[in-house]
Amino acid sequence: MVAVFDLQNIPANYLEDPYGVLAELREKSPVHKNPDGTFVLTAYNDIVQTYRDPLIWSSDKKAAFRPKFGDTPLFEHHTSSVVFIDPPDHTRIRQLFQSAFTRKALAAFVPRITNLVDEYLDRLEDQGQMEVVEEFSFRLPIEVVCDLLGVPRQDRELIRGWANAILTALEPTLTQIQFDDGNQAVTDFKQYLRDLITHRRAHPEGARDTEVLTVLADAEADGARLTEIELLHQCIFMLNAGHETSTNMISHGIHEMLRNPNQISLLSKDPDLIEPMVEEVLRYQAPIQINNRRATSDQILSGIVIPADTTVHMMINAANRDPGQFQEPDLFDITRRPNRHLSFGLGVHICAGNALARVEAQIAFQRLFHRFPKLALTSSAVIAQRLRFREVSSLHISVT
Ligand code: HEM
Repeated sequence: MVAVFDLQNIPANYLEDPYGVLAELREKSPVHKNPDGTFVLTAYNDIVQTYRDPLIWSSDKKAAFRPKFGDTPLFEHHTSSVVFIDPPDHTRIRQLFQSAFTRKALAAFVPRITNLVDEYLDRLEDQGQMEVVEEFSFRLPIEVVCDLLGVPRQDRELIRGWANAILTALEPTLTQIQFDDGNQAVTDFKQYLRDLITHRRAHPEGARDTEVLTVLADAEADGARLTEIELLHQCIFMLNAGHETSTNMISHGIHEMLRNPNQISLLSKDPDLIEPMVEEVLRYQAPIQINNRRATSDQILSGIVIPADTTVHMMINAANRDPGQFQEPDLFDITRRPNRHLSFGLGVHICAGNALARVEAQIAFQRLFHRFPKLALTSSAVIAQRLRFREVSSLHISVT
């Protein structure tokens, strides 16, 4: 008899602190059955196994999303973007935007990221206090991802609204309003990108050769490498994936450090700890808490049979706190090494933007804690009521 856990009816305290609930689940059984027939995985090793074999564990969401979304723009989007398709289409599409993430392309972003961070910190100094999400952690990633794609900066608020509506549609339960907003967002976002691409093609001068919009638009013009629908949905996905997650990484990092002042002292004594610090923030509060795969044939995980065509929920948040992999997993420890967290996933779908996200975080934290060794929380972080994304909706700090 497989133990049951209902992701659609989570315990009241889950969103505030999912980790305690997940630890109890893992101890009882690393594999639970959801009443809707899907399975919930909480053990690090099982989740690694599912990431490692994309042919056995498919990312294709057509079967899972058809009943949820029907024949809608949301269905089109969430079944066309690179993250939700399998090889060989996945391989063809992913290699198209690899040029945007080379070491050289990333190095070119460092001065821009540094200038942006310093601009936000100047404001913190002037004001003496700040609401972190609005004034810092949302701003940086959206600027960077807009630059990466080649999207005008003045449109960032539009993109933020669309991204939120489209990603919210991935939550396990959805209201009619959220569903309608998500569909409208995909439709508007597509039209926006069509206009932008037309404009780019008419005015190619000034585009960087690694700019994702141009690279993908050239591949589409070529005829064989990308369809128009694929082009639009990769751009939407990249703009969404590239900012919401990084925003939360930065907010959580500031929050966890201020809740653990001894860790700030460690960082100030040894600035080289910035790299392991970023990894620990990612481990401790994974911005994406759940990934999914579908078994293409009968499989066994931790002794439990997962039948063919069944979806599994890979609880990244649980894997990152698995005591079989991490000593004292509930301790926030910026000296932790090794730190093989799964916050960027693993295998062929491993986050394409992971190096960029890491650079953003390293610069943001390094400059913040170096310039303001005495920061304080003025209120506790407000955590949004979302299961799939660990979102901080507000966080107030002050310079003491
Ligand atoms: C802290 C920030 C971020 C986190 C936690 C994160 C997390 C993830 C995770 C877990 C996946 C794997 C999904 C799966 O296997 O099903 C993924 C994929 C992806 N991410 Fe990120 N991401 C972050 C930032 C970014 C940024 C900044 C970009 C781009 C600018 C980006 C672009 C992508 C893309 C394109 C994929 C799909 C890769 C593929 O399917 O081959 N991500 N991300």
